[in-house]
Amino acid sequence: MILSPSLLSSDFSRLADELAALEAAGLKWVHWDVMDGAFVPNITFGAPVIKACRKKSGLFFDVHLMIDNPGRYVGEFARAGADLICVHAEAETHLERTVSLIRTCGAKAAVALNPHTPLDVVEYLLPQLDMVLVMSVNPGFGGQSFIPFSTDKVRRLKSMIDACGSAALIQVDGGVSLANTRELVQAGADVLVSGSAFFGAPPLDERLRLFQAAARGEDVGS
Ligand code: DX5
Ligand code: ZN
Repeated sequence: MILSPSLLSSDFSRLADELAALEAAGLKWVHWDVMDGAFVPNITFGAPVIKACRKKSGLFFDVHLMIDNPGRYVGEFARAGADLICVHAEAETHLERTVSLIRTCGAKAAVALNPHTPLDVVEYLLPQLDMVLVMSVNPGFGGQSFIPFSTDKVRRLKSMIDACGSAALIQVDGGVSLANTRELVQAGADVLVSGSAFFGAPPLDERLRLFQAAARGEDVGS
């Protein structure tokens, strides 16, 4: 299981320090929640902030674009140093074109699905996707409760991916905690995003260890 901590729950006034702390704690990925105030109610940060931090970090930059018409900005985020760019199916009319564009720009390509969005929206794209993000909350805020049907959605997505021979990873984002880590991994999740449950209980290396233990099925509390 790959844990991708969401910087949404970090201290924005010291992002470079937060990235260094994640790396020192043994994390490999970091999740950037880009919000535009249109697709979702909040506004966070954009490509210039990611570009500035790129110089300070060797982490894998997992960039979750919660923005309308994300195809307009794919090139900019790729140039800023995003290793993976994830766009919402609901925000993009020409999803295949945008996925192709992400790959042409040299980044890994992912599509996110809101909780109510059916899996068949990505079915034909699975062979060209590096990851599918199953949103387990409605996007826009940290600290929300996990929507229980998400686990079954992950299980069904895993079957679809296996059936077509795609190598796409499954990521889950929203309300992920020690309490649901095991069921998500068993259902087929490869990458778990955690904001409040990860940053809210330091030290970070111990938190990572607990998430990994939970993924293996050890009893770690919640
Ligand atoms: C929600 C974001 C998430 C958020 C998760 O819109 O996409 O990445 O940071 O936060 P928690 O883990 O607190 O639900
Ligand atoms: Zn996210």
